[in-house]
Order: sequence, then C-alpha cells, then structure tokens
Amino acid sequence: MFNKLRYITAGESHGQALVCTIDGMPSNLKLKEEYINVDLAKRQRGYGRGGRMKIETDKVQILTGVRWGKTLGSPIAMLINNMDWENWSKVMSLDSANEDPSVHVTRPRPGHADLTGSQKYDFRDARNVLERSSARETAAKVAAGAVARRLLEEFGVQINGYVTEIGGAGIKDSYEIASNMQDALTIAEISTVRCPDKKAEAKMIRKIKAAMKTGDTLGGIFEIVVTGLPAGIGSYTHWDKRLEAKIAASVMGIQAIKGVEVGLGFDSARRPGSEVMDEIYYRSSKKAESESAGGFYRKTNNAGGIEGGMSNGMPIIIRAAMKPIPTLKSPLSSVDINSKKKFNAAYERSDTCAVPAASVVGEAAVALAVADSFLDKFGGDSIAEIKRNYEGYLKQLRNF
Ligand SMILES: Cc1cc2nc3c(=O)[nH]c(=O)nc-3n(C[C@H](O)[C@H](O)[C@H](O)COP(=O)(O)O)c2cc1C
Repeated sequence: MFNKLRYITAGESHGQALVCTIDGMPSNLKLKEEYINVDLAKRQRGYGRGGRMKIETDKVQILTGVRWGKTLGSPIAMLINNMDWENWSKVMSLDSANEDPSVHVTRPRPGHADLTGSQKYDFRDARNVLERSSARETAAKVAAGAVARRLLEEFGVQINGYVTEIGGAGIKDSYEIASNMQDALTIAEISTVRCPDKKAEAKMIRKIKAAMKTGDTLGGIFEIVVTGLPAGIGSYTHWDKRLEAKIAASVMGIQAIKGVEVGLGFDSARRPGSEVMDEIYYRSSKKAESESAGGFYRKTNNAGGIEGGMSNGMPIIIRAAMKPIPTLKSPLSSVDINSKKKFNAAYERSDTCAVPAASVVGEAAVALAVADSFLDKFGGDSIAEIKRNYEGYLKQLRNF
C-alpha cells in the first residue's frame, strides 16, 4: 500500500533492541537523533502507564542513511536499545544452551495474540508470540514516524494528536475542539492524558485512578489532525491510492486500535446529506487578506479534509478507538495450553491505560501514510527537487 516510503520494524519486547529501517526519504533533509527522541519520550509519558515506562528511557541511534546531519537518500536504519536487556538476556537468549522450559508461558492472556499466535506458529511457549505482538514495537514505529514528520515539516505540514475520551469520560463534542485547533493542541501537549480540555482531563484521571484500584484497564479515543496539506494529495483513481485508505490501514496497524473514522465518520451515516456535505465557496485573491487565502474554500469540514480519496485543503481529522489494555491485574480466566486446565491468565507488567501513548503512535502512523502520498505526488530524489515540484504545484492551484 505504501509506494514511496517503506519501513520495516524488528525486535522483541524484552530482546536486545528494536530496529527500524525506513527507505524512500529524499537526500539533504536535516535529521538529528534528538528530533526523533522528542517523539520517543512523548510515547513513554501519560497517566496510567505501568512499571515498564520507569525502566525505559528510549533513545534512538541512527546507524545509516545520514551524514553530517543530513539524509543521504539511502535507507535510514535506526536502533533503540532495550534498557532492561540485562535482566532478560537469559530468557531471551539466542543460545540454545540457555533454553529453560520452566520459564515457558503456557497461560495465554485473553485479548492478546498469545493463544492464536501459539497455535499458528506451533509454539508451546506463548512468550515466543507475546514478545513480538507487544506494543513495545510502537517505539520503532514512532521513530519511523518522526522521520516522516521531519519531511512533512519541511513543507509546513503539521501532525498533532490529542485524547478525547478515556473509559467513556471526556469531551463530548470533540469536533468543536478541532475548529479551535491551536489552543487545543497547546493544552493537550502539557496534559498528562494529552487532553485539550481541563475538565475532561480531570474526569479521565478519575476514571484511570478507579480502574487502578480495581485492577481493571481502560481504552479510549484519540484524534489526529493534519494541517498545512494542500488539496490533491492521494487519489480517487485506485483504492490503494486513496488517502483515507492508507491512513486507516496505517492507524489500524497499531496494536489495540479497533476503529478509525475520518471527519464525521460514523456520525455521517446518521445525518441527511444536507448536514454532511461541505459546500464550496470561492474568494478572489484580490479580496482575500493574502494571496494564499484566496481561491476555493469550505465553511465546514465534515469530510475531515478528505474527499474522493484526496486531501481537499482543509485540516485532516482522524479519530481512532483503542480497546482497553487486555492484561489485567485481576486476571481473566484462561486455559493452560499444555494441561488444558482452567487458570487465571499470566500477568506481564502492564499499563492501566495507554490511550495518551497510543495517540503519539497514531501521529506516527498518520505521518507515515501522509508522507508516502506526499512523495507519490511530488517525487524527487532531493529536498530541493521536491521543493521545486511542490512550488510548481502550488502555482498550479493558485492559477486554477
Ligand atoms: C501504546 C500502547 C501500549 C500498550 N500497552 C499495553 C500493556 O502495557 N499491556 C497490554 O496488555 N497491552 C498493551 N497494549 C495493547 C496490546 O499490545 C494489544 O491489545 C495486543 O497486542 C493485542 O492486539 P489487538 O488488541 O490489536 O488484538 C498497548 C497498546 C498500545 C498501542
């Protein structure tokens, strides 16, 4: 589905390191490890995270594809070491001499890949599954997403996420927030639950505290907003070129995400057409405050910035639903894969709520999808070449 920007992650949750290779980035893009580390740190924050976040302080090491602070146009390989490796080096050892059946995980956790993964790959130790199915992988995705974000930033495209609901509590009319974007984003950035509304934040924290007490977990909803993208990114010509298809696939690729909406999303199915379509207006550039403010525009953004599989120049609004964390402190009933006896599922150190973190991963997933479509449209091997193509296209839009 991604044509121009490919990335692959590897690594186990408690293995030595996570790695990620991203290919398709143009040359001469300024890129620093510190830039990527900002996003890695955001992924680790958030009220409701478990013990692991206190161990991890993720830092990326760029191994290839960058020289003297700029990309080379070759694949960029990145490494994130696992800080806790020392404690896991035996359990996760490459060496068969360290094999120890006494540490096998034989009690699959409901809601995880443990049982089906063991059946599929023929394992009697669910650790072989859970190590890779774990959302620890999202650190590598966030690193890849940061590289994509760096590219888009060069063209004034911004990608921001915030949490609108946790455990059913939150902002009722999140769409209103989207229309007052800049303030909302500033508040969300300093909120421990990445929520743009102080009252809603307090409700969310109360919910998480209550869940912690009872050993339960919570899911929620986050929104990702893309601003600064011109009309015409993506295409109506084929299903796998549709911008919302790429974005939805990318966001659904995140562990625990169970639904994605664009703009009004499911709500558009409940309204008549007259309350859904965004009417088109035109303002001559002579009458507009600036030349760039002239041209076609819409007063509403129910479409969430995408029509016919293409960006239409309005902010892109994506909403995603995350299910509650499946590992509960008061474990759910399960069956041992060897004895077939009923047990309480195994407890691996776990979060109570990871929706704020998931919203950071969501930003990365959206950045990767948008960057792929962006490169599809503007091509080019170097930043300068893409900028020429980009400027030429903006001129075409202005003269239309
Ligand atoms: C950022 C993030 C953090 C997560 N943290 C945990 C966790 O601490 N414990 C857990 O059991 N699941 C956690 N999950 C969810 C599981 O990874 C996910 O539910 C599981 O792999 C099964 O996949 P599925 O829910 O997509 O079916 C997290 C997910 C995300 C996106």
